[in-house]
Amino acid sequence: MTTTDETVQVDQEALMAFVFRAVDEVGAALNSALVVMGDQLGYYRSMAEHGATTPAELAERTGTDEHYAREWLNAQAAGSYVGYDPETQRYALSPEQAIALTDETSPAFVPGLFQIAHGTMRDTPAILEAARSGTGYGWHQHNTDVHVGCERFFRPGYLANLVDAWLPALDGVVEKLQNGGRVADIGCGHGASTILMAQAFPGSSFVGSDYHRESIDTARERAREAGVTDRIRFEAADATAVDGEGYDLITMFDCLHDMGDPVGAAHHVREVIADDGTWMIVEPAAGDNVEDNLNPVGRVYYGFSTLLCTPASLSQEVGRALGTQAGPARIRDVVNTAGFSRFRLAAQTPFNNVYEVRP
Ligand SMILES: C[S@@+](CC[C@H](N)C(=O)[O-])C[C@H]1O[C@@H](n2cnc3c(N)ncnc32)[C@H](O)[C@@H]1O
Repeated sequence: MTTTDETVQVDQEALMAFVFRAVDEVGAALNSALVVMGDQLGYYRSMAEHGATTPAELAERTGTDEHYAREWLNAQAAGSYVGYDPETQRYALSPEQAIALTDETSPAFVPGLFQIAHGTMRDTPAILEAARSGTGYGWHQHNTDVHVGCERFFRPGYLANLVDAWLPALDGVVEKLQNGGRVADIGCGHGASTILMAQAFPGSSFVGSDYHRESIDTARERAREAGVTDRIRFEAADATAVDGEGYDLITMFDCLHDMGDPVGAAHHVREVIADDGTWMIVEPAAGDNVEDNLNPVGRVYYGFSTLLCTPASLSQEVGRALGTQAGPARIRDVVNTAGFSRFRLAAQTPFNNVYEVRP
């Protein structure tokens, strides 16, 4: 124990434990770029396809320089993202690592989360300025890795849960969609959720909207690729100005807290939803109190809240800044203020709370 002054005592062991924890985290921070590298250069896919590899083989198969492949493999092995066998001097993915790092249809797929995190961190200088001035930084101002990473992070979870678990958890919604319902997906980004619903319910009609015009252009392209343009229309519009009326189902996936004026958006939903319609709000998993969210998932979301979602909300009119960890009470407050009378938590996953809201 070292005494630094009369009152403060520093436990050297605790200090060094903290320093080593920080070293581990700097490794993790660098790993966000390394995972993006492995994803975008095709390193992981090559390893999943060809099995145990040397740096030279990996470099040759991916058309990259061996020096980079070697250092990347060593960094990945040190972080337990790949295995290393000193006998053969080969590096390999376990079956579980191969799924998590290459299978975009698995809810365990993680490169999308790294891509959005890495893209978000690249825009940190702008966020520092915004924090000083108290202004915001819009979703549309970020680099493309934020938009594509968001799509690739969320889509596997929607694929696993939306049609099979979340919609069936809502009262009477599946029947309405099977019989041909009207659906608006607000803040749809690249349209992953809209397209999955359109594929599952070919007799219903879907409008996907987002204020970010480039995201809507991408959503239209994705709908063409999926062959669902006969039942989907995408439009660039703020949540407070979405077209149409009498919607049986209105959905918002991970976007209410990003909006500057969530109450204004909720008022608009109240105007365009059918009297017996359902509003499904999917938000990041969170409890109402800070202490409920002091866990690994909450840590990730508070990080995104600081660097991405809160600045996004502050960049818009009103700037309500609900925060990524808003929790059920604050979301209920928003919908009640807009005149909705029924609110319940209908489903949950480790990453999401799914709310059912009705007039
Ligand atoms: C985290 S992304 C989620 C995108 C998509 N729903 C998904 O799950 O992949 C948040 C989305 O909200 C959109 N957004 C933010 N403010 C909005 C507003 N006022 N009106 C409409 N969309 C908005 C952003 O453009 C962005 O596409």
